[in-house]
Amino acid sequence: MRVTLRQLQVFEAVARLGSFSRAAEEIHVTQPAVSKQIRQLQQEVGLPLLEQIGRQVCLTDAGRELLATCSDWLDTWNRFEQSIADLKGLKQGRLRIAVVTTAKYFMPRVLGPFCDRYPGIEVALEVINRNRLLERLGHNADDLYVMGVPPEGWEIESQPLLENNLVVVAPRTHRFVGRRRIPFTQLADETFIAREEGSGTRITVERVFAEKGIHFKVRMELGSNEAIKQAIAGGLGLAVLSQNTLGDPAAEELAVLDVTGFPVRRSWYLVWPRGKQLSVVAATFVDFLHRHVALLKPRA
Ligand code: PGA
Repeated sequence: MRVTLRQLQVFEAVARLGSFSRAAEEIHVTQPAVSKQIRQLQQEVGLPLLEQIGRQVCLTDAGRELLATCSDWLDTWNRFEQSIADLKGLKQGRLRIAVVTTAKYFMPRVLGPFCDRYPGIEVALEVINRNRLLERLGHNADDLYVMGVPPEGWEIESQPLLENNLVVVAPRTHRFVGRRRIPFTQLADETFIAREEGSGTRITVERVFAEKGIHFKVRMELGSNEAIKQAIAGGLGLAVLSQNTLGDPAAEELAVLDVTGFPVRRSWYLVWPRGKQLSVVAATFVDFLHRHVALLKPRA
């Protein structure tokens, strides 16, 4: 059989994600390109590997056999690529990082100087929500992860990086703007624009409201911090967002409310699977990140 490594990579992504479109998004190619690779692979194997049941893509028996085999191959190949990159030291190499949506506001500020310092290193940065990040972490798809709520009970290393506090955001014209020490209980009468289920922000907000015994009234769910800010400015409700998503609130027609119990103090964490042998590039980046993140901290 003449099967290429690329075809196996594409097949593994489709099988893992159960979707052609999500695989295309992850590998950064078009959906027709994914379909073509799978078609060619099936021709080589001589049996169907995937079947579409409703909207879900499922594995056939042959597909399951191939997935088990190719996961091992891909793992071996990744280790080979890693050792070659390590042999070449920091002159050349690849760094794969996946970060939650709120970290996109600081990560590029660290990546800029890192890429200047090590111009031969190619960086791939995925910006996704917590759920998607956990999928990738579970499959050991990247070198490093940055997230707000590390999963409990997982075999991971996690190091706190920087403050990632949550604040209550309102339109500038809201009646609470300018009031001091608004009691948390008053949020019970407000409607909120919430991040999607599975988002780290959403998990924390729901936990904080539940701890206070207050119903978190969701009027609308939006999967993007930027879209939520627009919706707040448009008068659709309040939101609890990471402070880092706000540039100049006044310029965005927004205001941060002074509610008791806020800001909710939390951190971003740098995470990787426990026992994972970090590449030279990744280990250098961890060190670089800690030193540069210190520069991003607000001065006391
Ligand atoms: P999210 O995570 O993008 O999944 O909401 C952000 C965070 O926890 O800060």
